Amino acid sequence: MKKRSTFGSTFGTVAVVGGSVIGLGNIWRFPYIAGQNGGAAFILIYICVALLISVPIMLSEFSIGRAAQSNSMRAYAKVSGRKGWQAIGYLGIATAFTILSFYSVIAGWGLEFIKESFTGEFMSMDAGQIKANFDAFVGTGWQPILWSTLFIVGTAFIVGTGVEKGIERFNKYAMPLMFLILVVMAVNSVTLSGFKEGAAFLLKPDFSKVTIRTVLTAMGQSFFSLSLGMGIMVTYGSYIRTGRNMFGIAGTVTVADTCIAILSGLAIFPAVFSFGINPTSGPDLVFLTLPNIFAQMAGGQVFSVMFFVLLFVASITSSVSLLEVVVAWVHEEFKLKRRAATAVVGFGALCLAVLCCLSQMPDSALRVGSLDIFTFFDKLTSLYMIPVGGFLVVIFAGWIVKKKLMRDEMTTYGRYGTSLFDIVYPLVKFVIPIIIAALFLNELGLFKW
Ligand code: PHE
Repeated sequence: MKKRSTFGSTFGTVAVVGGSVIGLGNIWRFPYIAGQNGGAAFILIYICVALLISVPIMLSEFSIGRAAQSNSMRAYAKVSGRKGWQAIGYLGIATAFTILSFYSVIAGWGLEFIKESFTGEFMSMDAGQIKANFDAFVGTGWQPILWSTLFIVGTAFIVGTGVEKGIERFNKYAMPLMFLILVVMAVNSVTLSGFKEGAAFLLKPDFSKVTIRTVLTAMGQSFFSLSLGMGIMVTYGSYIRTGRNMFGIAGTVTVADTCIAILSGLAIFPAVFSFGINPTSGPDLVFLTLPNIFAQMAGGQVFSVMFFVLLFVASITSSVSLLEVVVAWVHEEFKLKRRAATAVVGFGALCLAVLCCLSQMPDSALRVGSLDIFTFFDKLTSLYMIPVGGFLVVIFAGWIVKKKLMRDEMTTYGRYGTSLFDIVYPLVKFVIPIIIAALFLNELGLFKW
């Protein structure tokens, strides 16, 4: 049998996993969610959730993948010796595929904004005109379709080139570039008049806004941002070489993910306050508020280009991981060559992305209940599929897989973090399933805190 691909270096491994976790979730979603949920208080809860819940889940996914040496669907069957558990793998693959569709649409908007930043289109517009301009763009249907197609083709090109030569090589350049841009933007932010107010909003906690819902929101955001609950880390875990320190990798990317989320907040909120805009505006924050700010800011056009290039790089390294989960499955289970598998899956994702774009045209009939398909996919995955996926992973890792296997994989046969394992394992087995179940039932109204 052909040797299975692995990531070459430790830096490469961190860059690829980091590339997956750092994405629209950090730059587009985190700032507005933190804004709506009380700023600094939310961030504190978010950090606790990341350490207590997300890192153990990531370590569990890595361990399952590395033990199985296969795509995520097969991994659950292999590690447990029972076929039924493949269901978790299938759920994850379906989740990744669905996310890929609407994710590409948002990334496509980002591409349009790179173009508009270069041409300086929105530099002379006021807030109302910027909104009308954006609505007109989305309303055409075909323009977002064109950009998402381009985005998916780019993603497919990287994935089709291979794990080490395509995915790893691309990430090794993309990640440092991204970090650099973000630091420049955050430094510029310090010079703005609203810096103090913006920073205080992010860094001074106000616990009066915190409810149980805040914890659920933080958990959902953390899972999304760390790409958990859909087999991405199982698939990537299967490419991690045996000698590597899993705790080191999971710790590094979680810290990087959190820092980048906060850095993007620091790059965005001072600007928001400097121009007297409401910090709690929703998903529009990046696409309506920021262009409005760039239009008024000194050197705004340059920062605008930088910001949307950043958004693009962050999103393509994440969409690569979404596509890879599905491609690894098709490639190994249907015995298609990697390129052919990528083409098939990429085309499928494109079809869904087209539906998402069309669903946002005025009077579109593509709706599920009161939601357009785009919003429906977003809510379906982040509120239901991902938390359920995360819950099943910890149940699987804690109750189905033998403890010895988890210990051997997680600690690389006793080489790294054996005492950390003694903390992580009971979290995985008892604490995390109870917390996720309780939060979930509370949300569904079946259980009241
Ligand atoms: N973690 C990525 C982000 O923060 C998004 C993502 C979600 C990627 C799920 C893969 C899987 O944007």
